[in-house]
Amino acid sequence: MNKEKDIIILGIESSCDDTSASVIKNGYLLSNVIASQKVHEEYGGVVPELASRAHQQNIIPVVDAAIRRSGISNTELSAVAFTRGPGLLGSLLVGTSFAKGFALAQNIPMVEVNHLQGHVLAHFVREYDTEFDPPQFPFLCLLVSGGNSQIIMVKNHLDMEVIGQTIDDAAGEAFDKCAKVMGLPYPGGPYVDRYAKEGNANAFQFAKPRIPELNYSFSGLKTSFLYFLRDRLKENEKFIEENTADLCASLQRTIIEILLDKLVKASKKTGIKEVAIAGGVSANSGLRQAMINEAERRKWKLHIPKFAFTTDNAAMIAITGYYKYLRGEFTGQDAIPFARMDIRQ
Ligand code: KG4
Repeated sequence: MNKEKDIIILGIESSCDDTSASVIKNGYLLSNVIASQKVHEEYGGVVPELASRAHQQNIIPVVDAAIRRSGISNTELSAVAFTRGPGLLGSLLVGTSFAKGFALAQNIPMVEVNHLQGHVLAHFVREYDTEFDPPQFPFLCLLVSGGNSQIIMVKNHLDMEVIGQTIDDAAGEAFDKCAKVMGLPYPGGPYVDRYAKEGNANAFQFAKPRIPELNYSFSGLKTSFLYFLRDRLKENEKFIEENTADLCASLQRTIIEILLDKLVKASKKTGIKEVAIAGGVSANSGLRQAMINEAERRKWKLHIPKFAFTTDNAAMIAITGYYKYLRGEFTGQDAIPFARMDIRQ
């Protein structure tokens, strides 16, 4: 009997401040190891030079752990998939160079992966003993992270079109920058989420943007938040510490309303009711609940990723590499990373 050959992909992610490696066999997750970099906390943001150095230190132990946990041996791997961009160039260079060396040593092909496509395809990672109910094509994906806020029409695994995007800051940046103004640690998004649970979401009102079509803008909200605090602090220097929960809840509600307003418009415009979220901000509990409520109201079929697949991870790179492998889309040793990349690249 002819047994189909297993397709086993090693995925490498190093686009920002997480070094991650994952092994996926025939679309099923065998391992996903992530090393986050703590070094940036004291600077209140990612320092590119430090990120590259930390990737350099982390990459071999992380890949080693991912391969050991997967239970497969290097010689069984079919290909190595790596993030080619978008991201920080120095960080991307570490993953790209590692992938080249690994591919040469194992004599296997390389597959380049667009980080943004990876976030969307995180919904297609299968796990043993877990129900698999991926989005049906075409679907809309709200991709919200520290670097992106986009509404993507996903026509097929590798056919995506951005139909709306931020013209300035990303939603994650709005969370992080406003959190920084309140003196919260970096990255501030998870702290805002935590405080918001205790606060009154209607305590304060902040300016919402008026941007045409399906595009977003978050820089005005950041400025409105900053001026609001500046004025209140003149009257009461303890204003932030006395109102942290209400400030976080009101800020979070505003960001969620901005995000959902355009997503609802996108669904109406395209007639698509299959809807997904992806990216680091999709870990936000308020956004998740708001999406569930909206989906019930509008009869959407909603797809929310597991927490492990929201922030940067290599499982999403490996699964994207798997679909590209099936199509025979390989990359040569002359591949260089790109800091900027469109979702179609
Ligand atoms: O996808 P990601 O790990 O990295 C990028 O590619 O940007 O996203 C990181 C972003 C940060 O801005 C972080 O504050 C935000 O995701 N984030 C959250 C939450 N968890 C992570 N924002 C709001 N609520 C959260 N629970």
